[in-house]
Amino acid sequence: MSEVEKILKFTVDVAIRTGHILLNHFQRGLDVRYKSSEIDLVTEADLASERFIVETIRHHYPKHGILSEEEVEDKEDREFFWIIDPLDGTVNYAHGFPIFCVSLALQQRGDPILGVTHDPMRDETFTAVKNLGAFLNGDALKVSGADRLVRSLVATGFPYKRATIEDNNLPEFNRVLPKVQGVRRGGSAALDLAYVAAGRLDGYWEAHLSPWDWAAGVLMIQEAGGRVTDRRNQPWTFGSKKMVATNGLIHEELLHILNEW
Ligand code: IPD
Ligand code: CA
Ligand code: CA
Repeated sequence: MSEVEKILKFTVDVAIRTGHILLNHFQRGLDVRYKSSEIDLVTEADLASERFIVETIRHHYPKHGILSEEEVEDKEDREFFWIIDPLDGTVNYAHGFPIFCVSLALQQRGDPILGVTHDPMRDETFTAVKNLGAFLNGDALKVSGADRLVRSLVATGFPYKRATIEDNNLPEFNRVLPKVQGVRRGGSAALDLAYVAAGRLDGYWEAHLSPWDWAAGVLMIQEAGGRVTDRRNQPWTFGSKKMVATNGLIHEELLHILNEW
């Protein structure tokens, strides 16, 4: 087994075991705490998931750095860095709405090389390795062939601070909605991105994302033949703010509508 195959197997195994932790807590009911406001939550499941992932990575790869949403941010410069969302879709999860996942990505010197997003409710594991393609439970993924917005199903998301900032995505939502077959707000950015890679969605946009929301999904879309840029059509980078991710074919049309005002 090559080094990359080994690390992919390790990551998939961690994601699936984390999925069991999430399902266990999901069935038991939850202790919810609030972060920046009463709509920004953290549950005991986010924390249990994070603890398990971080301990497992530290044990197997002690030289790797880790950035994980809730409580872990290594500061030292490391060749390999993990970017982790221990539970993406926390608001859904806390309400028993069954759309959520765990998402893990590995960067080498800032370059994303591997991503795994696991949905334990559906037992779906999306993976991508740089230059080796994207897969769902082992089957190769390819973005959709929809070539016009009017034939497209797209997704988006809204920031937690939407009540207090002007840039809250509602104007964009209003402009896109009449032009497409539907706009979904699934509540898990990592799954939205995996679904674009899988051709279940034709496009997705959102602003105010954090690296753990997109680190795995961007690689999946690129490996499945899609396109990810910022709102100015520049290649997506670690510091980029407003994401537009599509099958490539509807990219310009979606950008055009998002940028109108
Ligand atoms: C959130 C979800 C949501 C997106 C938000 C994210 P969390 O992540 O991905 O879909 O719209 O921007 O913060 O808080 O559930 O990990
Ligand atoms: Ca998230
Ligand atoms: Ca999260």
